[in-house]
Amino acid sequence: MAKRIDVSGLTAYYGSHKAIEDISMTVEPRSVTAFIGPSGCGKSTFLRTLNRMHEVTPGGRVEGKVLLDDENLYGAGVDPVSVRRTVGMVFQRPNPFPTMSIYENVVAGVRLNGGRLRKADLDALVERSLQGANLWKEVKDRLDKPGAGLSGGQQQRLCIARAIAVEPQVLLMDEPCSALDPISTLAIEDLIGELKERFTIVIVTHNMQQAARVSDRTAFFNLAGVGQPGKLVEIDDTQRIFSNPSVQATEDYISGRFG
Ligand SMILES: Nc1ncnc2c1ncn2[C@@H]1O[C@H](COP(=O)(O)OP(=O)(O)O)[C@@H](O)[C@H]1O
Ligand SMILES: [Mg+2]
Repeated sequence: MAKRIDVSGLTAYYGSHKAIEDISMTVEPRSVTAFIGPSGCGKSTFLRTLNRMHEVTPGGRVEGKVLLDDENLYGAGVDPVSVRRTVGMVFQRPNPFPTMSIYENVVAGVRLNGGRLRKADLDALVERSLQGANLWKEVKDRLDKPGAGLSGGQQQRLCIARAIAVEPQVLLMDEPCSALDPISTLAIEDLIGELKERFTIVIVTHNMQQAARVSDRTAFFNLAGVGQPGKLVEIDDTQRIFSNPSVQATEDYISGRFG
C-alpha cells in the first residue's frame, strides 16, 4: 500500500515568483521524513506539490516530476483529484467539518469519493479509522456529536482519522502540532510512529526536537535571501542531520546559529 516518492528537478512558482527550485529527493515507503528550515523557504509549497494541491492556488505552477512508485503524478492524463485521494494531507489547524458529527467527519472523504457502503461497512470503517488515529476510546460513545466539540488535539486526530479512512498511500502533514498543547503533541507524535507501519509519511515541523523524535530522515531547506527560491540543502538520516550534517548551513540552523 505505502509507496515510494521520487522527486526530480521540481520547481514551483506563484505567478512569476519562483518559490522553490530544482528539488530532488526520494522518500522510502513506511518511513517518516521531516522537512525543516526557516520560515518562507518553501516547505509548505513543496509539500503541496506532492499531492497536486499547489496548482489550486491561482498562478500555482510546477515543473519537474513526482513519481509515486513508477507513476508520475504530473503525467499527461493523471487526474489531480485522484492524486489527492492517494496522497492525503493533514493541516496545521485542525479542520473538522464543524457542524458534522464525529462519525460523519470520518466518512466525509469516502462519501466525497462517491463510495457507496452499507451501514455496517461504514460503521466498521469509522471504528477502524478512529482506532487507527488513537481516538476511538475517547469518542466511541458520542459519535453522533459534532466534531467541533472535541479538544484541539482530538480534532487533529479526527482529521487524521478522516485522512486515513480513504486509505491513502502517502500522508502529508504540515506542522500538524503547531496549534496543539504539549500533551496533544506527544499523542500525535506517538500516532505518527504507529502510522508509519502502513503509510509513507512526510511532516513539516518547525520544532527540531519533534523532527528528531518522529522522523527517520530529515530534509533541511534554506533560501539564499529574500525573494530567492528555497532549495533543498541536504537530506539524510535524522540522526546524522542532528549529530554530523554534511553542510555548514544545516549545522548553523540546527544549533540555532541561523542568522
Ligand atoms: N498563496 C501564495 N501566493 C504567493 N506566494 C506564496 C503563497 N504561499 C506562499 N508563497 C510564497 O512562497 C514562498 C514559500 O512559502 P512557504 O511554502 O509557505 O514556506 P514555508 O512553509 O517554508 O514557511 C514564500 O516566499 C511565500 O511568500
Ligand atoms: Mg509552511
